[in-house]
Amino acid sequence: MTPPLLELEDISKYYGNIIALTDVTTSVNAGEVTCVLGDNGAGKSTFIKILAGVHEPTEGTIKMNGETVSFTSPRASLDAGIATVYQDLAMVPMMSVWRNFFLGSEPTNGLRIDKKKAKALAKEEMSKMGIDIRDTEQPVGTLSGGERQSVAIARAVYFGAKVLILDEPTSALGVKQSGVVLKYIIAARDRGLGVIFITHNPHHAYPVGDRFMILNRGKSMGNFAKAELPRDELVRMMAGGAELDQLTHEIEQA
Ligand SMILES: Nc1ncnc2c1ncn2[C@@H]1O[C@H](COP(=O)(O)OP(=O)(O)OP(=O)(O)O)[C@@H](O)[C@H]1O
Ligand SMILES: [Mg+2]
Repeated sequence: MTPPLLELEDISKYYGNIIALTDVTTSVNAGEVTCVLGDNGAGKSTFIKILAGVHEPTEGTIKMNGETVSFTSPRASLDAGIATVYQDLAMVPMMSVWRNFFLGSEPTNGLRIDKKKAKALAKEEMSKMGIDIRDTEQPVGTLSGGERQSVAIARAVYFGAKVLILDEPTSALGVKQSGVVLKYIIAARDRGLGVIFITHNPHHAYPVGDRFMILNRGKSMGNFAKAELPRDELVRMMAGGAELDQLTHEIEQA
């Protein structure tokens, strides 16, 4: 049996006295979307930063294709094929779409950037993902939030990422734009990437997710395959379950 693309075993992370993650275990398969859900402060960003090589875990093991790995820098994580798209996106708003697509890795002819080739390539790669940018000379700042996310996703796919981590890619977007981003998550999955989709919105996670891990105050409430987790149950867990029911009850009684 081939091992999962990525496995995290009993990952804990302390920031001094603050325990951000405790014994978190999960796995990510190629061609699947793993959703990591949790409320504010649950440890989602900490989880990403460990995979992105920003922080090392205090305890626990990370395996890639069955081999233990340690990401001591963002470069190390990237070199291993893990692409992280942060919510605030490392893009330059005044720069064109095609420059943002390559960001320093443009095709060249000799010493010069081959602009014509770069533009055509960016357009072609994005259209393979179903992204239709009319003019790649357009400054990235004039794109909608959903389109900007999609450029970042297409870039990660083109540069050969095996794991794509998306940190709350839909949280600042409206319904329609969120739908656009969800569509590209599916496109990346269909290209064989293992996608990790971080969100606090179960309604965004459920339609695209193959497996779900819910974090609550740094602890995993379990890993679930879609077949064993009805949508209502996911929504209930994310709403704080019993805690919220109790609160609602108290408010109604008051
Ligand atoms: N660099 C840090 N130093 C100390 N404590 C931190 C640090 N980063 C995060 N924490 C704490 O760790 C816990 C988890 O934070 P984290 O940012 O991972 O949560 P999150 O799930 O991403 O939350 P949000 O949805 O608000 O972004 C929180 O209690 C936070 O205050
Ligand atoms: Mg966060």
